[in-house]
Amino acid sequence: MTGKAFYIETFGCQMNAHDSEKVVGTLLAKGYSQVDTPEAADLVLYNTCSIRDKAEQKVFNRLQNFKRAAGKGKVFGVLGCVAQQEGEKIFERAPHVSLVAGSASYTRLPEMLVQLEAGNRRVTGLSLDTDETFDTPFTRRDNPHRAYITIIEGCDKSCAYCVVPFTRGPERSRTSESVMAEARRLAEAGYTEIQLLGQNVNSYRDPSPAGWDFATLLARTGEIPGIRRVRYTTSHPRDFVKAIVDAMDANPVLCNHVHLPVQSGSSRILASMQRLYTRDQYMQRIAWIKNARRNMALTTDIIVGFPGETEADFEETLKLLDEVQYDSLFSFKYSPRPNTAALAMEDKIPEEEKTRRLMILNEKQRAIQIRRNTELIGAVEEVLVEGRHEALGQWIGRTSQNRTLNFTHPDAGGASLVGQYMHARVTRSGPNSLAGESVANVV
Ligand code: SAH
Ligand code: SF4
Ligand code: F3S
Repeated sequence: MTGKAFYIETFGCQMNAHDSEKVVGTLLAKGYSQVDTPEAADLVLYNTCSIRDKAEQKVFNRLQNFKRAAGKGKVFGVLGCVAQQEGEKIFERAPHVSLVAGSASYTRLPEMLVQLEAGNRRVTGLSLDTDETFDTPFTRRDNPHRAYITIIEGCDKSCAYCVVPFTRGPERSRTSESVMAEARRLAEAGYTEIQLLGQNVNSYRDPSPAGWDFATLLARTGEIPGIRRVRYTTSHPRDFVKAIVDAMDANPVLCNHVHLPVQSGSSRILASMQRLYTRDQYMQRIAWIKNARRNMALTTDIIVGFPGETEADFEETLKLLDEVQYDSLFSFKYSPRPNTAALAMEDKIPEEEKTRRLMILNEKQRAIQIRRNTELIGAVEEVLVEGRHEALGQWIGRTSQNRTLNFTHPDAGGASLVGQYMHARVTRSGPNSLAGESVANVV
C-alpha cells in the first residue's frame, strides 16, 4: 500500500460514530493519513449500520459505485454491524472487499492492518466470543468540546425486532476506573461535555471490585472538575431505576434529559416485542422523571407496524404520546431483520399501512412539540455554543434539555463563541428548535 491514506464513512448510531473515532485514531497512530474522498484513499472503510434494511443497503450501494476502482491498488474494508451480520458473505456480494470486521473485533485492528499491508486479500474479524471492550489511547475525537465515552458494549436483551445482540455481541462493561480515568483526561484536555454511551447504559455493572452501578458511575462523572455537562444514551426502561433520577436531581451537571425508548404504547405489542416491561411499568418510570425537582426533557423511540399491531394497539401508542408529552421522538416503520424472532411472526402489516401510521404519529408529535416549544418563549436557558449559522447571523446553541436554541449575539466582533457556555432568551419557537438572543450571563 503506497501513501497509506485512508477514507472512512460512518453510518448508524453514536456507538458507531465513536467506534470510528477510535478506528481513525488507531490508523493515524500507525502512520496512515486521513483523506476526505474515497478517490484519494488507498484504504476505503465503511463503518456500517444494519438496524433497518435501508441502512444496510447504503453500504452495498457505496461498494457498487467503486467496483471499477478496485484492482487499481485500492483496498476496501467493511466494518461495523453489517460486517458482523453478513460476515464472509460480503466477499461474495462485493468481491473487491478485503477486510470484514465487526465491532467486537476492533481490539485486533492493528493486527488486521498488518495482514492487509502484507497483501492479504481476505482479512476477517468476526468473533463475538469476547469479554473485551475496545479501549484505545488513540481515539481521535471529531468535536473539541463534547466527547463520547463508551461505558458498556453489546446487548444482552433480545427484543424481537432487533439485530444489535447479533451485531454487537454480549454485554461487556468497562471498569469504572477506566471510565473515570478517560473522563478526567478529557476534562484536562478541555472537553466540558461528555456523553456516556452504550446500547443499554442502565445495565452497566462495574466488573472491578468497586462494583458501581450506572447511577453511581453517572453521579461520579458529574463530579469531575471541568466537566459541565454529562449526557447518556441509551436507557432501557426495564433497567431504568429511580436512583438515576435521584442522581440527576442532585447535580445539574447531569443534563436534564432522559431518552427512554418505549417502542409501543400497547402492553400486548410490548410483550410480543419481548421488551420486558408493560405500559404501566413504563409509565411508572415516566412518573419518577416527571416528579423530579428539575424539569427533565423526555424523548423516545417508537416503532409502528410491528407484526400483529392492530389499530387499537396503535391508538394506545397515540394515547401514550398525549400522556407523556415527549419533547421529541424518533419514529420508525418496522423493518424485518435477519436472525430476529419477529421475522417468523404472522400478521405482517402492509407497507402503506405502516406509512399511514407513521404519518399520523409524526403529525401528533409535531403538534405536541409546537405547543411545548411555544411555552418556552421568554425563558432564559444556558446553552453550549456548537456552531454558527452564517446565513442567519445566528450562533447554534444546545440547552441542557438537548434542544437547539439558535441565538443572536451583538458584539462577537468576529471572535468565535463555539465551545462557550452562554445564556440566551427564547424569543421564537418552531416544532424542532428555538431561536433567541443572548443575555448577560446570569448566575
Ligand atoms: N438499545 C436501544 C436501541 C438501539 S436501536 C434501545 O434499546 O432502546 C435504535 C432504535 O431503532 C430502537 O429504539 C428502535 O426504535 C429502532 N429499531 C430497532 N430495530 C428496528 C427494526 N427492525 N425496525 C424498525 N426500527 C427498529
Ligand atoms: Fe436492540 Fe433491544 Fe438491545 Fe436495544 S435493548 S439494542 S432494541 S435488543
Ligand atoms: Fe446501527 Fe449497529 Fe448502531 S445496527 S444503530 S450501528 S449498533
